[in-house]
Amino acid sequence: MGFNNWNSTHCRAEFNESMVKGIADTFVAQGLKDAGYTYVNIDDCWALPDRNASGDLVPDPARFPHGIKAVADYVHSKGLKFGLYSSAGTKTCDVQGFPGGLGHERQDAELWASWGVDYLKYDNCNNTGADAKQRYKAMGDALAAATRATGRPILYSICEWGSNQPWTWAQGVGNSWRTTGDISDNWSSMISIAHQNQSLAPYAGPGAWNDPDMLEVGNGGMTDTEYRTHFSLWSQMAAPLLIGSDLRTASPATLAILKNTEVIAVDQDPLGRQGTVVSDSGGLVVMSKPLADGGRSVTLTNETSSTRTVSTTVKDIGIGGASSYALKDLWSKATSTTTGAIGAPVPAHGTVMFRVTPGSPVPPPTGVNQLSDLPWTSAVGGWGPVERDRSNGEQAAGDGRPLTIGGVRYAKGLGTHAPSDIAYYLGGGCSALRVDVGVDDEAPNTGSVRFQIWRDGTLAADSGVRTAADPPVRLNADLKGATKLRLVVTDGGDGITYDHADWADARLACGSGPSAGTHELSDLAWESATNGWGPVEKDLSNAEQAAGDGTPLTINGTVYAKGLGTHAPSSVAYYLGGTCTSLTTRVGVDDEVTTKGSVDFQIWRDGTLAAESGTLTSADAAKALTADLTGALEVRLVVTDAGDGIDYDHADWAGPRLVCG
Ligand code: GLA
Repeated sequence: MGFNNWNSTHCRAEFNESMVKGIADTFVAQGLKDAGYTYVNIDDCWALPDRNASGDLVPDPARFPHGIKAVADYVHSKGLKFGLYSSAGTKTCDVQGFPGGLGHERQDAELWASWGVDYLKYDNCNNTGADAKQRYKAMGDALAAATRATGRPILYSICEWGSNQPWTWAQGVGNSWRTTGDISDNWSSMISIAHQNQSLAPYAGPGAWNDPDMLEVGNGGMTDTEYRTHFSLWSQMAAPLLIGSDLRTASPATLAILKNTEVIAVDQDPLGRQGTVVSDSGGLVVMSKPLADGGRSVTLTNETSSTRTVSTTVKDIGIGGASSYALKDLWSKATSTTTGAIGAPVPAHGTVMFRVTPGSPVPPPTGVNQLSDLPWTSAVGGWGPVERDRSNGEQAAGDGRPLTIGGVRYAKGLGTHAPSDIAYYLGGGCSALRVDVGVDDEAPNTGSVRFQIWRDGTLAADSGVRTAADPPVRLNADLKGATKLRLVVTDGGDGITYDHADWADARLACGSGPSAGTHELSDLAWESATNGWGPVEKDLSNAEQAAGDGTPLTINGTVYAKGLGTHAPSSVAYYLGGTCTSLTTRVGVDDEVTTKGSVDFQIWRDGTLAAESGTLTSADAAKALTADLTGALEVRLVVTDAGDGIDYDHADWAGPRLVCG
């Protein structure tokens, strides 16, 4: 955050020592310093056209009669920082062509450090076609060497206009990189730059920022409504906020925009995520930015020329899991609450900006929950939204395919793109997460990612690097007592290209399972039960209609006091929570059926078949089944029609007993 003279003065004579000092004075007098603005930066045209006999840059004595160090000292005396400009070429960008830094990196960096420079904007003009990475790295290395010698850090702002996709290589070279050509003081320039920068969100993060160029707020070419949109979008994109108007003569309206500390707090949020577009239709654009407190800031922008209502939902902005959400309008300061809907009438070219803060989170229900059926408290994905039960197709919601890892297809799970971070509130009541992870088969072989499960800030499971060639790997995380669960995907160390990362069949076990001892299954409460005809009956056969209409469970003349009377197709699930060891039962077609009736009994543990009867008819004796359930989160009793239709398929689970503890 700071100031740069370029947008208001270019190289006109008014750009001089007295202006720069006046800006530093205004920072203090107008409370801009208190609002967070720190850097007072000067742009092109501060130097003479030629280096001196020792090859050093020379400040223009007409503009800076006391040199640059004197200006830097003045800025420092106000508790502020000072920034300077050069170009990674033979000359700077202005037509007068001041000397550039190419080939002079060490000498220039040492000179600037001796002047007390805290910030360098390094432009791209007259670069002789030399490799951009090398040119920018040479200066980065020179600045780092100067910092080592003086102890004074120098923020390095790369300004190569996005020509060489700096977002793919400039992390670790500079602290920020321009993503576009120069901004001008009009709506179409500003909004087109916003559009270009919006799509680059996954590349930015703390210490490595996309820079959509400096602010035009207050320069007169846009309305205050448009300037509020400009300031809102730059903050929503975690962009550098470099004031580009002459603050000494700024209007109260301009100062009110620049000093909106709640919007600034979004820009400067310590999580350091750039907001992403969650919907964009007919000129109505919604962006969501994850915040460190678990909330979101949301911008509702109306790019059309008449007032329109712009809407979204709590779910679409990537949060959930609470019964209500507080909304604060960061411009009007009005507060409200919502259970889901977010929207407002927005004037032409305007932006309504809300800070959305979830109320108390609701813990997941007891049982085995598929994570894709639960609301997350927060989800952030590298490209496009995090998808439920689909892979990540990188763009719109729902554009993925069935989740598939190494040829294994999954009905349930989360489709993400690195870098991603999904958080759930557990409230201390869950015990375990079991999930298969891997790169989705839709990614070409260059995709490589790493999956990590975190519980309350502690790593609970780590997949190591997985590539598109790998089969799924199972991760188990012990979550007993944990309040928060986070599923994190990083890029595997090789950039985010094609990093389609699946959390497949993610089963979260919550609540405690049955107590230690042997239980008659029909005495326990099931998690879910589906049945071909009528309800599943406890300790009675299934007579197809009302509850309790059956007869005692009887197979080939033997009567069973306890058990379940079902009708194919049937599925009854019990939550075990990892605490049980076995299920033993007899199975068969009930004696009330004399003809037809043929079924197959299956016992499933966490999605794996553990025991199966094969086809049984009314002529068959009861068959004994045993399933090892050690560590299982859930057991599911399934009856199929054995392939011949469900007529008279009265299927008895006779005397099923569950051993736990
Ligand atoms: C380039 C940069 C601008 C400004 C001018 C100065 O155009 O992109 O931001 O620094 O040079 O000449």
